Amino acid sequence: MTQAVTGHDWWPMLTDPGFLENPYPQLRRLQEQGPIHLDAQSGIYFVLGHEAFAQVVKAPQIGRDTRYWTPGWNSDEYRERDPVGHALYSGIQPQMINVDGADHKRMRGMWEDSFKATAIRDLTPMVQAEADRLLSRLPDTGEIDIIRDFAGPMPLRVLGKLLNLPESQDENIHRWSEALIRVADVVISQEEKQQALDALTACKDFLRGFLAERRAAGDTSLTSVILRAQDEGVLDEDETLVNMVSMLIAGHETTVTLIGNGLLLLLQNPGEMERLRADRSLVRGAVEEFLRYEPGGNMILRVAREDVEICGIPIPAGSPLLGMIGAVNRDPARFDDPDRVDVGRVANPHFTFGGGVHFCLGAPLARLEGLVAFNALLDRWPSITLAGKARWRVDRLNARGLATLPVRVG
Ligand code: HEM
Repeated sequence: MTQAVTGHDWWPMLTDPGFLENPYPQLRRLQEQGPIHLDAQSGIYFVLGHEAFAQVVKAPQIGRDTRYWTPGWNSDEYRERDPVGHALYSGIQPQMINVDGADHKRMRGMWEDSFKATAIRDLTPMVQAEADRLLSRLPDTGEIDIIRDFAGPMPLRVLGKLLNLPESQDENIHRWSEALIRVADVVISQEEKQQALDALTACKDFLRGFLAERRAAGDTSLTSVILRAQDEGVLDEDETLVNMVSMLIAGHETTVTLIGNGLLLLLQNPGEMERLRADRSLVRGAVEEFLRYEPGGNMILRVAREDVEICGIPIPAGSPLLGMIGAVNRDPARFDDPDRVDVGRVANPHFTFGGGVHFCLGAPLARLEGLVAFNALLDRWPSITLAGKARWRVDRLNARGLATLPVRVG
């Protein structure tokens, strides 16, 4: 039996602005020491190897329900010590990403048909129309910020069309998402917890009214799927609201980062941009390469429900595990030339959408949005170049995306 690597001081590194700007060299150094590290102070196992993470997402002893984390937010001690944190984590608990087994099947089951690749393919004209509409508002030549002007609004508008959400709510949803996405961070201040809790309350209040209005109107969008699940008793009221909140967050920010991060990679690798322009059949694979190389989500959480061994390393029941996706997706044991962006990469088993039963439900939609967005950008302008410094957000640990991406188009 081998042991997890210990001794690295994770917390200063994870919050260091230099690491947040470019985490890859340090992640590689840690990966070279071993596929799994244990932070003895918090009891968190950091998983950096591709094979190790593949075992984690497949292991039946490991789930996603953080109530099994000992001693986590669900303990009496935590409730006393941090009532705001407890209210936040228990408030967002009843949704598919946070439960396992029969509850997970029940919650995921209602959406599954609507998110199958075949159903999502039918959405191509709508996604294309939204991308074209946003791009047609932008100048033929000049300087723009791709995050503000395209990558930001597009996924929200697609989600809006899918769920029948009014465009007038986009700004609120964006604001609530920004606060709530922090819940996935292992380092979050009391003030950020309070902001996330306030956003959760506001978002649920909005959704209560919105769902009542859609029910009365006889909705036929994807919202009707969750309304039916509630009417048939598959979900109670709180589960209905929290799964809707989660859909708004999961389906929004992640796709903004795919478009922003992917375009930055093309701008930094003009030869790859030229390859795409010359052969559009490469765009689908290029999207996978962007997802591998700059995954957007840096950490994927799991909790061991029973004692388990991963790559021969014992993990005790109750332990949290964090898949460090930036390391997993660039493991030299799994990927040739892992630090090279190659839009023609053939085998690309990245873990950006997670794995096992919690594999991202929205992956077919995200892939469609990526395909449409990059083709639309290349169609819109014969030339796109960097017009200044792209700025990474350094105010959050998990969601790795750009605050701005200034480009010159023409
Ligand atoms: C590039 C875009 C996206 C990325 C990188 C992404 C990534 C992820 C990841 C890492 C997970 C957790 C998987 C795990 O724990 O193993 C997840 C779950 C999920 N995602 Fe996505 N996602 C994206 C887009 C979307 C979209 C567009 C939607 C819906 C509109 C969506 C809905 C969901 C849902 C509902 C879950 C929970 C699935 C479950 O627990 O069974 N995602 N996603």
